[in-house]
Amino acid sequence: MCGIIGIASNKPVSINIINSLKKLEYRGYDSAGLATLTNKNINEKKCIGRVEELEKILFKTPREGNIGIGHVRWATHGVPNIVNAHPHSTDQVSVVHNGIIENSDELKKELENKGLKFKSQTDTEVITLLISEALKEHDPLNSVFKTLKKLKGSFALGILFKNFSDIIIGARRGSPLAVGYSKDENYLGSDSYALKSMTNKISYLDDGDVCVISKDEVKFYDVSLKKINKKTHILSEDENIADKGEYKNFMSKEIFEQPITAKNCVNEYIDSLKKDINIYNFPIEPTNINKIVLIGCGTAYHSCLVAKYWLEELTTIDIEIDIASEFRYRKLKFNQKNLYIFLSQSGETADTAAALDICKKNKVKTCSIVNVVESTIARNSDWVLPIHAGPEIGVASTKAFIGQLLVLFILSLKLAKIRGDINKNVYEDNIKNLIKIPEAIEESLKSENNIQLVAKEFLNAKGSMFLGRGSSFPIALEGALKLKELSYLHAEGYPAGEMKHGPLALIEEGLPVIVIAPKDKYFEKTLSNMQEVIARGGKIIFITDNKKMIANDNIRFGLRVPFLNNILSPILLTAPLQLLAYHVALLKNCDIDKPRNLAKSVTVE
Ligand code: M6R
Repeated sequence: MCGIIGIASNKPVSINIINSLKKLEYRGYDSAGLATLTNKNINEKKCIGRVEELEKILFKTPREGNIGIGHVRWATHGVPNIVNAHPHSTDQVSVVHNGIIENSDELKKELENKGLKFKSQTDTEVITLLISEALKEHDPLNSVFKTLKKLKGSFALGILFKNFSDIIIGARRGSPLAVGYSKDENYLGSDSYALKSMTNKISYLDDGDVCVISKDEVKFYDVSLKKINKKTHILSEDENIADKGEYKNFMSKEIFEQPITAKNCVNEYIDSLKKDINIYNFPIEPTNINKIVLIGCGTAYHSCLVAKYWLEELTTIDIEIDIASEFRYRKLKFNQKNLYIFLSQSGETADTAAALDICKKNKVKTCSIVNVVESTIARNSDWVLPIHAGPEIGVASTKAFIGQLLVLFILSLKLAKIRGDINKNVYEDNIKNLIKIPEAIEESLKSENNIQLVAKEFLNAKGSMFLGRGSSFPIALEGALKLKELSYLHAEGYPAGEMKHGPLALIEEGLPVIVIAPKDKYFEKTLSNMQEVIARGGKIIFITDNKKMIANDNIRFGLRVPFLNNILSPILLTAPLQLLAYHVALLKNCDIDKPRNLAKSVTVE
């Protein structure tokens, strides 16, 4: 998704803008640009594609300046081309923008009626023109405020002024924005990660806030133009943050890091001596919880789906799950005794953040399970449970999914214990198995060689299907999502029992069908569903934790993962599916870390 950077300094800024834009690349984008000020001239440079291109352009025609803004754009209004790339400038201002201006058509008409001309197809250009118009009568801060009042939608802005060459103005409504501090230099960034190489002192803007940044100071204003103070956070040191190490790409690094990240997570929450779970300060006393509502998008939604099976199995609590973009528009009956849990790796997903806001407005208790503890969703929740996965850079979520599952399982177990829904032996037995999980994940990653062979079967396939029952059904959905987002091959995830209600019509000779069949209460039923597929020519890839691979000549490939107990099987069945998507994408020469059309952090609705 789009990313913003701004630097006000006492030395040239363009190299640092480029370096920070490179940090924002993980978000996914299709064009990039920057603007600096020299002798009251706005120097704009833009490119299609990678920030490296922008760097080359800058190298050929260097333009210095001690103040500047930069942007990576993920196209929403208008195709990805140079004209639509940010910044958007007039002879007075230059603007970078994340988010969407919902009333841009209306504003555009008003401006055109005044005789103003638009160069791009973007919604951003209305902001540039509105501020330029306002500057005829007002100072920069009041011009921005006047403009903000006219905008509908959610956005973050960085604005540079030709005639006020020592300031950048930032504004936040909906889309995240952070400010960083350093000696003789201050920064604006759409996330703290982009600023980390320059400073660890950060403040976050809240919705409606505006900031004025110069090299010596930063001033903050609230929505009514009142001066306000902001808390400063010191960012934690993350190791291995942007280093692929020996790996070809971040995704493979993140897949193979899972035994370590799982261990970190388990160690944070499990007290192995006391055989207990360190989770306290529940926002609602667990025995009083009426219902748990789990909300997320994409992979995070799949975690919610797995947790539904776990919470139903382990506790007597009523469970509801929803996709954030649906939840936020439902006519809901909020209940003070319900606990609303938000799943998000980035903690910045616009739909999930909006769903959380609705809960807050309705004064119900919220919990977030996030990877980025400084994120908007974490900061806005009553209770935060971090997944301790470390920065996830690949657009496809892998280690964060495992982290989400671990935290959800640990939480389910703790709730069950406090409520008296399970006995001590079952509780302690599950804790013992959780401690073994990192090693078992490591074992399941050893399937890689076999998976490389399986991947070849997908090269000429028209599509594929992933089937599972019970908690393996969300794992089927996750396997299909990983395959489609990485390899651009159509993939459907289905509950195996649903096949005959429609999707069986898709099965034809040679279609790869991944059957996820742990040795649980559904095992025999899944085998019957598999037979229905075999009878219609489907090519079966069978994944199980059963000690013995079943004998069936029609199974093209059989893969086995370690077994700890039935309830933890979704965690161990995941790694082979991540590897499968990865290897199919690699064979097809796809951009593994930045799949087309996608973004790491989906900050627009
Ligand atoms: O940062 P979040 O966990 O809120 O992101 C949610 C989804 O956008 C994300 O999981 C997406 O589905 C991934 N690309 C899947 O690999």
